[in-house]
Amino acid sequence: MSLLFESLDFVENPLFERIISDLTQQQYSIVDGFFTDGEVHLLRKALLKAYEEDAFKKAAIGNRLNETIEQSIRGDLIFWIDETKANASESLFFNKINNLIGYLNKTCFLGILQKEFHYAVYPKGTFYKKHIDTFQNDDRRKLSFVCYLNEDGWQKENGGELVLYLNEVEKAIFPLPGRVVIFESQIIEHEVKLVNTERLSITGWLKTR
Ligand code: OGA
Ligand code: MN
Repeated sequence: MSLLFESLDFVENPLFERIISDLTQQQYSIVDGFFTDGEVHLLRKALLKAYEEDAFKKAAIGNRLNETIEQSIRGDLIFWIDETKANASESLFFNKINNLIGYLNKTCFLGILQKEFHYAVYPKGTFYKKHIDTFQNDDRRKLSFVCYLNEDGWQKENGGELVLYLNEVEKAIFPLPGRVVIFESQIIEHEVKLVNTERLSITGWLKTR
């Protein structure tokens, strides 16, 4: 009975379906229209406001139990976003993320029960060396999600490409404003190349319990 009710309730979402099919086929997905230009603009403003208020701190490696700051590995500054204190643009952001989570759980049985997101700023001259997004003592991260909040007209010379290390090939992805990249946290090694112009993003993870 309840199965029948749920299937009547279900509305197919072409964007989410594309993400799922990309992830199934290649373990990553690049989506340019996940957020509207207006939403990206508002999120960039919210990031810059928090940055001006000095809310950011140097990103560490390792998790909260064993974290150290290693500029030679990663040079970004981050600020964890608290969903319960979200402003209007952050609420829009979490709305879409929660819709995606609901969809993934309904169609793929991924069992995503938790999420965590931070803003990130990579100042000129910084990078994040090749790594994987799960910790030795914690493998709950299933999907990594990055949305770039750079200004329009991001150039190749600005650097900061995300490089995914796939079997045999390296896939370089430019951090164009509004672009979303989703990939399997436990599988895909990746790095952020040297940044020549301040690079802005929201990064987060969908996690199992
Ligand atoms: C990370 C990361 C990628 C990016 O924060 O773990 O790999 O493109 N970010 O910002
Ligand atoms: Mn990473």
